[in-house]
Formats: sequence, C-alpha cells, structure tokens
Amino acid sequence: MCGIVGYTGTRQAYPIVIDGLKKLEYRGYDSAGVALQQGDTVKVYKKAGKVAALEEFVGDQSTAGTTGIGHTRWATHGEPSDRNAHPHVSKSGKLAMIHNGIIENYAQLKSELSKAGYEFKSDTDSEVLLNFIEDIQAKNECGLEEAIRIALKRVTGAYVILIIAADQPDTIIAARKGSPLVIGIGNNEHFLGSDASPMLAYTKEVVYINDYELAIVKPDELILKNLGNEIITPFVQKLDLELAAIEKGGYDHFMLKEIFEQPTTIADSLRGRLVLNEQKIILSGVDAIQDKLANARRIIIVACGTSWHAGLVAEYVIEELCRVNVEVEYASEFRYRNPVISSDDVIIAISQSGETADTLVALERAKEQGATIFGIVNVVGSSIARISHAGCYTHAGPEIGVASTKAYTAQLAVLMLFALKLAKAKGTISDERFNELCQELNDIPEKVQWVLENEVDNIKAIAYKYKDARDVLYLGRGYNFPTALEGALKLKEISYIHAEGYPAAEMKHGPIALVDEELPVVFIASKDAYHEKIVSNIQEIKARKGMVISVMTQGDEVTPTISNDVMVVPEADEVIAPLLTVVPLQLLSYYIGVYRGLDVDKPRNLAKSVTVE
Ligand code: F6R
Repeated sequence: MCGIVGYTGTRQAYPIVIDGLKKLEYRGYDSAGVALQQGDTVKVYKKAGKVAALEEFVGDQSTAGTTGIGHTRWATHGEPSDRNAHPHVSKSGKLAMIHNGIIENYAQLKSELSKAGYEFKSDTDSEVLLNFIEDIQAKNECGLEEAIRIALKRVTGAYVILIIAADQPDTIIAARKGSPLVIGIGNNEHFLGSDASPMLAYTKEVVYINDYELAIVKPDELILKNLGNEIITPFVQKLDLELAAIEKGGYDHFMLKEIFEQPTTIADSLRGRLVLNEQKIILSGVDAIQDKLANARRIIIVACGTSWHAGLVAEYVIEELCRVNVEVEYASEFRYRNPVISSDDVIIAISQSGETADTLVALERAKEQGATIFGIVNVVGSSIARISHAGCYTHAGPEIGVASTKAYTAQLAVLMLFALKLAKAKGTISDERFNELCQELNDIPEKVQWVLENEVDNIKAIAYKYKDARDVLYLGRGYNFPTALEGALKLKEISYIHAEGYPAAEMKHGPIALVDEELPVVFIASKDAYHEKIVSNIQEIKARKGMVISVMTQGDEVTPTISNDVMVVPEADEVIAPLLTVVPLQLLSYYIGVYRGLDVDKPRNLAKSVTVE
C-alpha cells in the first residue's frame, strides 16, 4: 500500500516523479504529494485525492529541481486529507520524508516527542518517525544517515522511507523493512520506486533493496549499507519487462485489458512447462523440493483475497489428483493462531504481488517452525518469492487493475500444473487421465479466447440489466464453489454492490431467506458431476421468484430454460473449468462497474498491494 517514487540526476525531477506516481497509483490513491530539493530548501506540494488533483494544485508553481520524492497514499493512520498526505516535513523544515508501511510503536514515540515539545501537523505515524529522526540528529549531534540508523533500530513495524534534506543536495536516503523498494540505475541518475514501473522508461538495471538495508542515493553513486553501517555490494539485476506491459494499450481500463490478455497470459504460464508431446510437466521448483513433497503429511495453502480463492480451487484439485490432505488458510488468521506446523508440512504461498504483509509474515513463522515454503508469485524478485525455498512464477505480467483477473487465472494454471506433476510423481493418476487433463489445460487459452470473442456483447447486456441490483448471490458446487466466491468478490470490489458467494447447497441453510423477485442469483452451472444438483438449486431459486443468471456450458439445453439470462463457456473438464468459468464473471463485474460510472481500475478504499496487516 502506498506508492513511493524518487529521482536524483540531471533531469527535472518533478515530471519523472509525477509520471511514476501515476504508474503506482494502483497501490493507493487517496492523496498524493511531492518534495523537491530547491537550492537549500525543500519544497513540498501535497493534496488529498488522486495524482491528477495534485498536478492541478501544483499548476504553475515552481517545480524546479533535479532531486525529488513523491508519494501516493492509502491511508492507515489519519483520514485522507491534505495535512495527512505525504511528504511530511520535520519541525525544522529541513527534512522531507515519504513512508510506506506502519510504525507500530508510533504512539510511544509520539508521546516522548510531545513531552519534548514537538507539535504534530498530521495524524500520521510517518510524521512521528520523521521528527524522531530529527530529534536523534539534534541530541546526538550526528549526521542524518546515522540518525536514521539509530531511529530504525527503535522502530517496530514495516516501512520504506525516502528522505531528502535541505542541506544534503542531490541526495535521497532510503531504508526498507517489510515494504518493497527498487532502485533503478541510470546514466548519472537514479530512480527509486515501490516497484520497477516508474523507472521502466529509463533503465532496465535495478537493485531490489532488502530488509534492514539503507541506501544513500546520489546521481552518480549508490551506497548500500546495513543498519550496522557495514557496506553491502548492490546486486544489480536486469529487468525483463517492457513499457507496453504497464500501459493501457487502447483499452478503456487496465482491468479490461488484463481480462482480454488472459488467453496469452495463461499460455505464458504454461509455456515450457506443459510438454504435451513428451507427456510431462517441467517445474524445476517442484523438482527442488520433490522429497519434501513426496513425504509431505499435508499441504497448507496460505494466501489472501483472490489468491486465497485460487488456493481453494487447488484444494479440490490436489486432493482429487494427488490424494494428499490440503488445508487452505487465510494468511491473516494463520499467522496469529499458533498453528501446529512441522517439518513434514509443505506450505504453498500464493500471491500476485509477492508483498502481501499477512502472507509474508505467515510464511516467516511457518519457515521458523521447519516447514518447506513453495511460492506461487507473479512479481519477480518480490519478498515472498525471495523467502520461499522453491517456487514458480506465474508469468502473468504486471497486473495494474486493482481487481485481480489475469493473475488469478495464471495462478490457477500453475496450480493445475503443480497438481498434475505431483500426482504423476506420486502415482495417484493414470497415464490416460494425466494426458487428458494436460490436453484440457493446453486448450484453455483458446476456450477463454472464445468467450472473449463471442460473449462480450451478451454479458454487456446482462450487466446493463442488473447494474442497479442491491445484492447479488453467487452459487456454485465443487470446483465451481471457489469461482462463486471469486465472482462475488469481483462484483463487490468493482461495483460496490453487496455480493456473497456460497456453496449452492448451503443456500438452503440461510441465504435462501434473501431470495425474492429483486435478487439476482448467479449460478456457476457449467457441466460437471454436480450438474443435476445445481439444476435443482436453480429451480429452488426460480420457485421463489429470484432472477437467475447462469454460467453454462455450450450445448446445455436445460440451463437456458430455467435461467433468466445465461453466459456461455465452451465445454471443459470439470477439474480445469475454473480457469474458464471465472472469465464471464470478471466481465460481468467490469461492465456493471462501468455502467455505474465507477473507476473500476481504482475502486474506493482498495489498494493493489496490501503491505500492511
Ligand atoms: C482482489 C484482489 C485481492 C488480492 C489480495 C492478495 O481482486 O486482488 O483480494 O488477491 O489482496 O494479494 P496478493 O495476491 O498480491 O497477495
């Protein structure tokens, strides 16, 4: 949460910082600000609202300066407002700081500073940290770098901070613990960002900063140190990412672009891994922990949100194909509940961003207790990727739309590969079934393409018809139950319509009380072993005058006769079908959001990467 950007070099910093903030707005967008070094002063502009509001506010005011930092905020401490926006300025006016994360012991630090006469201009934990640093500098008569080091040793919580000082020209000091920081290396210039997107147009050479590292960044110098003041050699990596991947490419929204990219992104997730003609699956990450997997007592899947839904699908698939016990845990609960973990457990962490705080900490705890961690992550080099013992990237490319779409189907594709490979290794699947499912998986990109080519107009009309619904129920059974949860989550996020996902049979145990002629009920009713049962559930809703929208398999003659509206998908094996049945639900949410006039790429209160717990 929160996006941070920095630049120091020979160009004007302001346009680079503003452009970088726009690329990072998916991380938070309730206020924004910049600080620029101008001579021996720091000039700060900040404003509640999106980056565009900041630009408008800055207008013709002076933006000169070749060193600057910028922030786009997702509020934790203090409401979104001008005064709580970053950068914050220290009491002396000499330091400006931006912060991503949470300082957990800020109240104690604040009370110490208040007693010493500090008055705070905002409600944020960040301003406390900045003044704490300045206070240490004054008391210890030390340099800024030393003061930051001392302060960070006392701080609990998570942070990335960037600081510029009026009396340290051309210098940005940065530090990280628990929130992401990338530094791009240019020619006589350096770029800083929460991810690499702000620097992609300028450089492909980057350094991912690790926890407890401090960077002193000047145009021609990058010094990396640990909190013990020892120099660390920066590990420079080459980015394998093109600028086009983070632009809208003619689509109205990133979300729509990302939905339409899915035939390609699913194929990318499978490429080089699903080797049909040799009837095998290559996943070197699985090979790396094959003994652990072969002997695992159970597999625990840890994730949040949409990634957790991918985990639920995997539970059904892995248990069915591999005959091993699978548990799916919300990372936020798992990390605090003192779970029983042993070295016989394999933990699969699923995360698009690779930075989700709850997932990260849950993994750290499980690792301490001896479990083996397998990461399924989209963002290369992210924290979860780095703490995993082994893993698999999903290769969906950057996902900018806040609501996850292509990252979800890429996660499913990788999880299917994982399950098939493990089943083959354990001998729990016949060769015939293995080959059949591999072929089905291979055909999925084409089937998703079919939905995108044939169903969009129909789904748009359905979206228009139901755009004013107050509540929507999503029901599915078996492999389609997690899809019901995911469909409901997508609708909630994008349209702000209340939506619930349930196993279809659970409906009778409560939610059926909601059904009347006003309630749309979305059934994921593709052809599978439970189809007759789901047909009965649809009848139960119809009998109570609910409006039924069904996702159904092409050629099904029964479902259209009992549904008000249908969204069609090609036939697919039930194990693989979740990769397909979710696509109409993504489109439905997207168009309902658009028809309601909402900013679907940046839904209110949300952020793409949840780096606070
Ligand atoms: C919903 C969505 C979120 C994320 C969740 C976990 O569309 O995107 O629910 O799935 O915040 O994020 P990652 O996968 O980055 O760990």
